[in-house]
Amino acid sequence: MMTNSKIDKFDTVIARHNSGSTKWDDAPALFGSKDVLPFWVADMDFPSPPAVNEALAARVQHGVFGYPSPHSYAYDAVTDWLDKRHNWKTNPEWMVSTPGVVTAITLAVQTFTKPGDKVIIQPPVYPPFFSSVHNQDRIVLENPLVYEDGNYYIDFDDLAEKAREAKMLILCNPHNPVGRVWSRSELTKLVKICLENNVLLLTDEIHGDLVYTGHQYIPLASLDTDSDDKIITLTAPSKTFNTAGLYTSIAIIPNSKLRSQFSQTVQQLGISKSNVFGITALEAAYRHGAPWLDELLVYLEDNAQYLTEYIAANIPSIKVDKPQGTYLAWLDCRNLKLSQQELVQFFAKKARVGLNDGVTFGHQGTGFMRLNFGCPRPLLAEGLKRIAQAVNQSI
Ligand SMILES: Cc1ncc(COP(=O)(O)O)c(C=O)c1O
Repeated sequence: MMTNSKIDKFDTVIARHNSGSTKWDDAPALFGSKDVLPFWVADMDFPSPPAVNEALAARVQHGVFGYPSPHSYAYDAVTDWLDKRHNWKTNPEWMVSTPGVVTAITLAVQTFTKPGDKVIIQPPVYPPFFSSVHNQDRIVLENPLVYEDGNYYIDFDDLAEKAREAKMLILCNPHNPVGRVWSRSELTKLVKICLENNVLLLTDEIHGDLVYTGHQYIPLASLDTDSDDKIITLTAPSKTFNTAGLYTSIAIIPNSKLRSQFSQTVQQLGISKSNVFGITALEAAYRHGAPWLDELLVYLEDNAQYLTEYIAANIPSIKVDKPQGTYLAWLDCRNLKLSQQELVQFFAKKARVGLNDGVTFGHQGTGFMRLNFGCPRPLLAEGLKRIAQAVNQSI
């Protein structure tokens, strides 16, 4: 399957047990078995690019870890990355540092909406999209994606209805868990509806670098739609370069009034200073990580291909389509005819693999499970073998 010897390095399995890893060390308690192989929370089982690890090592070597200064050099690195890689011209002045994208979603909802306001999300979708709204006494308005012929689409008629009563829309571009990379025409239509209804767009683009052959990530705010004043983009190097534990992300807000409102919330909460290691890793990743990322994308796409072919050949009762982006596969397990509770138990106890319960992404995820294939092929192969054996034994 794999054709490029340069990417063989991603085959190496690095033990992550007892490394303080959520994915590995929390799995036995979460899934009720010591023997479970984890394919759940969205980090990868690969080391970060050598350039990142070397920059971190050099920073450790320096040995002094006082408060970092404003991060203009890091914002320049983000600006250059977005320009070169995604053809989006940004300005370092538009950037606000945040300690993670989930935190930034909560901050944006807090800053730009009031209790009782309605916020549109597009389930099935990343669970914190729900909680960041609910937890702050705002109201979730669902604009569910439509599932047709193995793919997901935006229901624009429904969106146009919901937009009339909403203050904000939270977009996931590319989309977790369904793996859609939204096209230019889809994004243009979505922006038009939001602008017509004065709906602020908050777009989570953390998966933007992870896109496969034939698809292109288009930053929402790079569209030529006169919508700069209405878009807040959240991004981070953490999915791309596997640095989630460093909690460093960036909000990009071209409109100065919105930016200063957002910055005020960040200041009031006392979280405006970044972590020195997070900033070091961010800069090294965006400055020097492109060749590594190109190799990673080949490996991940091979994993996606392997997974879809394996499931089609060996577990036909599960349906899965190759995602357009992200390292997440969205498994349609409805033909197994199990209740959601039975499905979750089946994967944890019978197959001994730790996947995300589809229902945590909204009720539209009933009968689905999410599998993270950001891991060495031998681990993926073992996980798929376990699932195939469990399914075939229970038929
Ligand atoms: C769409 C999306 N946003 C945000 C995050 C998490 O971001 P952070 O770790 O920066 O809070 C994830 C992680 O899976 C994600 O899929």
